[in-house]
Amino acid sequence: MKPTRFMTLNRHILEGEKMHPEATGELSALLSQLSMAAKVISLEVNKAGLVDILGFTGDSNVHGEQVKKLDMFAHEILIRAMDHGGHFCVMASEEEEDIIRIPQKHKIGKYVLLFDPLDGSSNIDANVSIGTIFSILKRVTPDGKPGTIEDCLQEGYKQVAAGYVLYGSSTMLVYTTGHGVYGFTLDPAFGEFLLSHDNIQIPENGRIYSINEGNYLYWHNGLKKYIKYLQSNTYDDKPYQARYIGSMVADVHRTLLYGGIFMYPADKRNPNGKLRLMYECNPMSFLIESAGGRAIDGKRRILEIVPKDLHQRTPIYLGSKKCVDLIESYLKEDEENKGGN
Ligand code: AHG
Ligand code: MN
Ligand code: MN
Repeated sequence: MKPTRFMTLNRHILEGEKMHPEATGELSALLSQLSMAAKVISLEVNKAGLVDILGFTGDSNVHGEQVKKLDMFAHEILIRAMDHGGHFCVMASEEEEDIIRIPQKHKIGKYVLLFDPLDGSSNIDANVSIGTIFSILKRVTPDGKPGTIEDCLQEGYKQVAAGYVLYGSSTMLVYTTGHGVYGFTLDPAFGEFLLSHDNIQIPENGRIYSINEGNYLYWHNGLKKYIKYLQSNTYDDKPYQARYIGSMVADVHRTLLYGGIFMYPADKRNPNGKLRLMYECNPMSFLIESAGGRAIDGKRRILEIVPKDLHQRTPIYLGSKKCVDLIESYLKEDEENKGGN
């Protein structure tokens, strides 16, 4: 990775705003606040393994609170960090069935925040990378009033910003406002996110495919044929590689940097797959498309799906353009065959 200019996240966001005169500086403020919440969650996540030990000695965590499940901890931190800055009219979280209203005592803003506070939670106890995913929309209902479900249920192409935080060997924040994808690594020495991946472009093709092959029994034929093709052919004279971490943020981050494809498909048990449209698939698809890749549900762009429910699921195939083109052709052929018989 070529050395990057010494640039903090806050300065990068501000410089990005200058390039877009219509921006009001609000986006920079709310993204900076998000990065603050990311630092707090990172601190807690990075000592998750110790929490049981601390808990065992009866200590509470550094915030003097009863040790909570990390999902709920991250959920509460994000709400507390984001609900009073005057940027949002409404929020929505994977951990909350209904929309999250802004307390009356706080100023109502013009943005909407949708988030998955902790993604990949099944991996926490195994110390495998997990993450936070966020999606930002502009409200569609009149300013000044509390936001509604209508402000949340907008197609993904209307996002104004999206990104994720990856709590891995280092903590990274990757975001886009639709003008390029930028990665920042947290320097714990002075608590700043520093630009480490400048203007990420996903490779046009790739050798890595990422899918939970444990669901093979329920796959549709088109997908089976595609995977069989990968397993019986080579790419650049080398075999394809299977990589599956089981945390969407980690699998998508690797796909973004190395190329290839990540899939959570529809299958005979789950016709809509498993991943949620509003706070997993839309933000990740916005990032991948902004980096030059593709993201489909098998038939159309993820970003064009008209949402009906806050927690609706969608199949997803995302990554390098040529990889998604290929799986799309297998799925289309399968549809045509089904239609034919
Ligand atoms: P979450 O922890 O927010 O519920 O998300 C888990 C998701 C996603 O991170 C990952 O891609 C997928 O679950 C893995 O599912 P399987 O274990 O069924 O493969
Ligand atoms: Mn998730
Ligand atoms: Mn989650």
